[in-house]
Amino acid sequence: MDFPFSRLRRRPDVEADNLQAHDATDVLLVDRVLSLGPVGAEIAVIGDDYGAITLALTAAGFDGIRVHQDLATGRRALARNADELGLAGFAAHELDASLLSGARLVLLQLPKSLAELEEIADAVARWAARDVVLVAGGRVKHMTVAQNEVLGRSFEHVQAERAERKSRLVVATEPKEVPVEPPFPVRADHDGLTLVAHGGAFAGARLDIGTRVLLDVLALGPSRLRTDAPGSAGNPSDGPADAHPSGATDGAGTSAAPIVVDLGCGTGALAVSYALAHPDARVSATDRSAAAVASARATAVANGVADRVTVTHDDAGSALPDAGADIVLLNPPFHLGTSVHTGAATRLFDAAARLLRPGGELFTVYNSSLGYRAELTRLVGATEQLHRTAKFTVTRSIRR
Ligand SMILES: C[S@@+](CC[C@H](N)C(=O)[O-])C[C@H]1O[C@@H](n2cnc3c(N)ncnc32)[C@H](O)[C@@H]1O
Repeated sequence: MDFPFSRLRRRPDVEADNLQAHDATDVLLVDRVLSLGPVGAEIAVIGDDYGAITLALTAAGFDGIRVHQDLATGRRALARNADELGLAGFAAHELDASLLSGARLVLLQLPKSLAELEEIADAVARWAARDVVLVAGGRVKHMTVAQNEVLGRSFEHVQAERAERKSRLVVATEPKEVPVEPPFPVRADHDGLTLVAHGGAFAGARLDIGTRVLLDVLALGPSRLRTDAPGSAGNPSDGPADAHPSGATDGAGTSAAPIVVDLGCGTGALAVSYALAHPDARVSATDRSAAAVASARATAVANGVADRVTVTHDDAGSALPDAGADIVLLNPPFHLGTSVHTGAATRLFDAAARLLRPGGELFTVYNSSLGYRAELTRLVGATEQLHRTAKFTVTRSIRR
């Protein structure tokens, strides 16, 4: 087909020469639809990164396509690409019955995690038409037999096709009976902190090791929840130093509840731990993943702090006010999709600098091999190392 795929842009997501807004899998999926000739209103698209599938099909005359994208950045990119190409007539949905009811053809860009795939496969089997055909595609180098096994839990027939231009389609048909309760969200207790996770959320219901290191340094670790653990000067080389965030003072010099932002909140482990340890604090948690946002909201409810933890689906906290935060907590991503690219972390450092008031504190945990300290100093302000192990480094940056 002659759709101008190369005109698509990734923005507001990171753009770089080695990062594209479409791939050969998008083209294979679109070509498959053209050969099947279904009705637009019976097509659902899931995981359409920047809108390539939805827009190419809309341009080809399919009307009423339903699309679900997990990332706020992808949703914005799709809207902008549609505007620029003058295309309309499709509708965005969450991963729910409204996306899938009556759908007879579901196109899926395979997600990175098996848990995310399992939640999607269950949703298709649960809500789509009985004769639905699920066509899932991916780059061969990222595909595994385990993906077929996961699809096989929800479909009687799963057939992998021959690879073309380094991409491959897998076709699943005949949805199985679904369990009464969907497989997600899942939950796990961590010594006083309950984490709730949808399939696409970072680390699932586990407490990530990096997150745990940051919680320990901030004296917010699960075993210390609701206790006022004593600060300790500590020795960065032999154990985490407790670093109580200094928070805010009002005009009279007495301390007021700090305004805290958990930037890229995932399941909300940092936001909810902070709220549990500081009963007067209000925390704003934000993530670009819809699965993360749903998980963090459920985590806040599970821990009884939903009235003090607000969760938003946004790109780098763009809707939060400039210079409004006293403290930002950050465990940045270092993978961008399936390519390793640190641009995603840099965007969040820039966002932290925008969100913090002068003198506000950014606490960051990152893989020690990444050496972000100089960049944090440049983008945010003076940055000290609070703790370092072979694997993780925790820093505090003071907004200049
Ligand atoms: C390493 S995970 C950390 C999750 C959580 N804070 C924790 O410690 O368990 C990074 C998170 O940042 C989110 N993220 C990445 N880029 C983002 C962006 N531009 N805006 C908002 N969130 C973003 C990801 O979706 C992911 O949930």
